[in-house]
Amino acid sequence: MNTPVNILAIVGSYRKGGIIERAVDAILASAQEKGAVTRKISLLDKHLEFCTNCRSCTQVAGENYGECILDDDMGALLQEIEWADTLVLASPMNAGTVTALMKRFIERLVCTAYWPWGAPAPKARRPGKSKRALLMASSAAPGILARLTGDVTKRLKFAATMLGAETVGTLFVGLAAQQKHQELNKRTINKAHKLGQKLAAGK
Ligand SMILES: Cc1cc2nc3c(=O)[nH]c(=O)nc-3n(C[C@H](O)[C@H](O)[C@H](O)COP(=O)(O)O)c2cc1C
Repeated sequence: MNTPVNILAIVGSYRKGGIIERAVDAILASAQEKGAVTRKISLLDKHLEFCTNCRSCTQVAGENYGECILDDDMGALLQEIEWADTLVLASPMNAGTVTALMKRFIERLVCTAYWPWGAPAPKARRPGKSKRALLMASSAAPGILARLTGDVTKRLKFAATMLGAETVGTLFVGLAAQQKHQELNKRTINKAHKLGQKLAAGK
């Protein structure tokens, strides 16, 4: 029997049960049906401080993520990420980009880089793509327009790269705010189903 794929979803919505979370749930349910082990983290539930830009976590070279001076849930979150073979990174598009909740998490990923004083730019500590990532976004605008005018997938891809994950797909849920409780349309449900199967197969 094949070893099951461990899938971790990290959701940056301000709403529990919002459209992006329901799209994530659809993917995870489909992946579970195919034998994957899944976990989901809502960043809303985590105590994450803002990065203070002290850069102490970036000074020591090596594969190990640098130690942060802040005492919050980020360390435990990175442990969960270590567990995963595949990451699902999901955020609504607000003001053209990821939510502030997701951005705060992404900024804290600076510990995944070696960036000593004097170096012009950070270098990922684990540049090899040992994981896979699926990027998900939702927007009030039609998906195609939101992709052109915003940078959500670019920001999520950056996070995936810092975590050593190769992006294997994206799901953009457009027209996501037509009603207070927007239902997922059939096309999105079908796409989520297929993506879940693909992730469970380790593809
Ligand atoms: C403050 C704010 C800013 C937003 N900015 C955008 C935007 O720039 N473009 C867009 O298409 N939708 C925008 N939206 C709509 C959200 O993307 C949409 O409501 C969200 O994807 C729904 O996700 P949720 O159900 O998980 O909350 C914005 C919504 C809010 C509240």
